[in-house]
Amino acid sequence: MANRSRLIEGCNMRWWFRCRLWVWWGGIVVAVVVLLALVCTALTHTYTNYLLRSLEGPLPADDPELLTYIREELLQPPSSEPYDLLEKRNVAQILVEESEVFYNKSLRTLFKDKSDGFFVEAGALDGETMSNTLWLERELGWTGLLVEADRTAYLSLITKHRRAWAANVCLAPTPYPSKEMFYIYPHYPGPLALSLGFKMRSMHGLTKYNEKATSSSWFTKVQCIPLESILLSLGVTRVDLLVLDVEGAELAILGHFDLQKFNVLCIEWKKKHEIDSVVQQFKKRGYVEAARLDEDIILVQHGSQYEGRLNTSTHS
Ligand SMILES: *[C@@H]1O[C@H](CO)[C@@H](O)[C@H](O)[C@H]1NC(C)=O
Ligand SMILES: *[C@@H]1O[C@H](CO)[C@@H](O)[C@H](O)[C@H]1NC(C)=O
Repeated sequence: MANRSRLIEGCNMRWWFRCRLWVWWGGIVVAVVVLLALVCTALTHTYTNYLLRSLEGPLPADDPELLTYIREELLQPPSSEPYDLLEKRNVAQILVEESEVFYNKSLRTLFKDKSDGFFVEAGALDGETMSNTLWLERELGWTGLLVEADRTAYLSLITKHRRAWAANVCLAPTPYPSKEMFYIYPHYPGPLALSLGFKMRSMHGLTKYNEKATSSSWFTKVQCIPLESILLSLGVTRVDLLVLDVEGAELAILGHFDLQKFNVLCIEWKKKHEIDSVVQQFKKRGYVEAARLDEDIILVQHGSQYEGRLNTSTHS
């Protein structure tokens, strides 16, 4: 205290010029230190959070930030507006395929008394053409999740005002999100041509799981999200019906997590000679085959209320 007051006194009076010198020196020392610090920072590499996070490996399927991102950026909530369907104007309904009749009949038998269920339909196309789930919404008050990776099909889907969540992604064949090569067939102009087009052409799919990609295919990269992550982000713990028409990636999509939450699975398996072994794999995971028509299989979780409602003897 004494020193300081003397200093102040000195500054204010006789030795003010000496004090000024100290201030100058002090200023220079501070400036040099700041400069050194800046140079050191500039010479040290800085790494982005992205890199540091990537070093840990892919994002886990239940990463909290991922789940928020899915909910806020990728999912379109169910619509409450009136349906805007083509119905009778849908050219595609002129050609009713055997597989549509098979699913229609089987699913109506399975779910005849089940209201307010939850479905997941992947490969949902325009949400109307060949849809296996639209009637569940309209007649039994279900809701669900419609997944469609093809942009054109998805844009058509959301104009239909389905009572279900929708996402323009593909289901990841890995237990983490990734971008995958996808092939699409060229789309034809016009709303009718679009729905007919879905039916006429083989459908799009992940390139590495599909052998049908031809020179007329277009390729694009699409964001894939594990089904598990989407269901977690929606808080869905029970799926009454899962329809997978994803052209070969079915086993990969379902391979990485527990299937306990799915009651009924509808799977199209294009390679007929593999169907029996695919069914065997699902049997090991707690399912029984409930019905089959050519390449379409319906599997029911063993012990669920739906077991035994269909008879396996409907083999073609
Ligand atoms: C599905 O079944 C219902 C009721 O039996 C019938 O009215 C409808 O035309 C069927 N649709 C198809 C595509 O088979
Ligand atoms: C299924 O069909 C077979 C033969 O047609 C019959 O013996 C069996 O009782 C049927 N099972 C059920 C659950 O209806």
